[in-house]
Amino acid sequence: MTDRYAVFGSPLGHTKSPFIHSAFAAQFGEDMSYEAVEAPVDGFEAAVRAFIAAGGKGINVTVPFKVRAEAMADEALEAANICGASNCLKFEDGRIIADNFDGVGLVRDIEDNLGVELKGKRVLFAGAGGATRGALGPFLEAGVAGICIANRTVEKAEEVAHLLGPRGSIHACGYDAIGQGFDVVLNATSASLTGALPPLPAVAFEGAELAYEMVYGKGKTPFLALAENSGAEQIADGVGMLVEQAAEAFQWWRGKRPNTRPVIEDLTIPLE
Ligand code: ATR
Repeated sequence: MTDRYAVFGSPLGHTKSPFIHSAFAAQFGEDMSYEAVEAPVDGFEAAVRAFIAAGGKGINVTVPFKVRAEAMADEALEAANICGASNCLKFEDGRIIADNFDGVGLVRDIEDNLGVELKGKRVLFAGAGGATRGALGPFLEAGVAGICIANRTVEKAEEVAHLLGPRGSIHACGYDAIGQGFDVVLNATSASLTGALPPLPAVAFEGAELAYEMVYGKGKTPFLALAENSGAEQIADGVGMLVEQAAEAFQWWRGKRPNTRPVIEDLTIPLE
């Protein structure tokens, strides 16, 4: 029987996940299907259980269900546990296991695809929501020298900065306290979804090797335009992160590591 997988979210309008996983499956001739399930906001858990009952082997999870996906798991692996949110579930022997590959996908994209080594680097995150929470563990593992989390609500940044305890040098600040000296600047806010710009000063990009927009498909966002005009050497959107987190999920489910390059090429929209 064909193994069933899916992405669950609401709304799911433009999801690329079925395209990505079908491309990965084709690389190995895997007998699997991958569908998009727009679950009702008040019926996520029931929809997941129905999918499992119908033979589902695993799902990706996106907005707004990531926290509830982690909460319904029998076991949450480290990344999901730290974030309190999961973007990937595996159904095995009657159990639900949760992981979160957003952060590791981001690190892989930055290091392997964009050629920026994170070891020893100073990193600035704009935003203190789920996107930043998910990235902290993998960034520390990559050996960054320090992480600064800027947020409009500084208390929220402080909470996130303390999530990983004394494992690394992570600190919080307001946007007005940001100076220069960052190698990598990431927009982990949801501002670009509405064409808004987090209040980052231009000086934050002086001497930066990379400015990274975690949102995908919005072209050259106000964040990327500011970064480019303020001295960032390289700008990138989140297409590589999207494909790399999918590759991590595929490997977890199927035990095979897909080639992400051709899929990223297919999905890349020039930043003009
Ligand atoms: P999620 O957990 O799904 O990522 P979230 O917790 O709502 O979503 O986080 C969204 C992040 O984007 C927050 O850091 C938010 O900043 P505040 O906590 O100060 O609200 C940030 N954000 C959203 N729109 C923004 C904007 N226009 N400028 C700056 N930050 C913005």
